[in-house]
Amino acid sequence: MIIAIDGPAAAGKGTLARRLAAELAFDYLDTGQIYRAVGMRVARTGADPADPALAADAARALVPADLHAGDLRGDDAAQAASKVAAIPEVRAALLDFQRAFAARPPGGSGAVLDGRDIGTVVCPDAPIKLFVTASLEKRAERRVKELRQRGLIAIQETVLAEMRERDTRDSSRSVAPLVPADDAFVLDTTELDADAAFAAAIGFVRSRMPVD
Ligand code: DC
Repeated sequence: MIIAIDGPAAAGKGTLARRLAAELAFDYLDTGQIYRAVGMRVARTGADPADPALAADAARALVPADLHAGDLRGDDAAQAASKVAAIPEVRAALLDFQRAFAARPPGGSGAVLDGRDIGTVVCPDAPIKLFVTASLEKRAERRVKELRQRGLIAIQETVLAEMRERDTRDSSRSVAPLVPADDAFVLDTTELDADAAFAAAIGFVRSRMPVD
């Protein structure tokens, strides 16, 4: 059983994916973390993550320990991730790992993957797909709150501008752009808190799961 969750930054998909995975005892893979790890492998050397050859080398050289680096959650990593993610060779190099996780999750019962292209490219046959979205303003507001809770300085206008830039890059790239799969359940969380979003999502998921 595979649950594919896609959507733009800070729409609440990570929180939702984690909660669904915990509720169903499925394994969870945050695929954004993989792109962040690749982006930072390049950025840490001082090079430009948008350099196709360097980014593709970094993707091919990625090892699991890279996913636990301490500098992956900030906005520098987010921008670097979005840049390497637009390079076809990078996406191709990361595909097998994501598909293997979905096909053989470590716990053996099921997998929840979240990202931008899970329902469209990585797992197009997933029986359950969600596209989690929210207005740009609401997403920027949430990101500012999250950054401040982590003790970081965050300016609403800057966060909103960076998020808009990332949305545009992620949605307009030629490979695996951010678009809802035709068969995805679209969940707009603009007016929903985390509990309400979870209630809507689990209701949809259960309606699609085989009854035993
Ligand atoms: O979900 P996130 O914010 O951690 O993702 C960081 C960037 O990685 C995002 O801007 C685009 C890219 N990404 C992608 O292209 N495909 C995915 N499946 C996941 C992330």
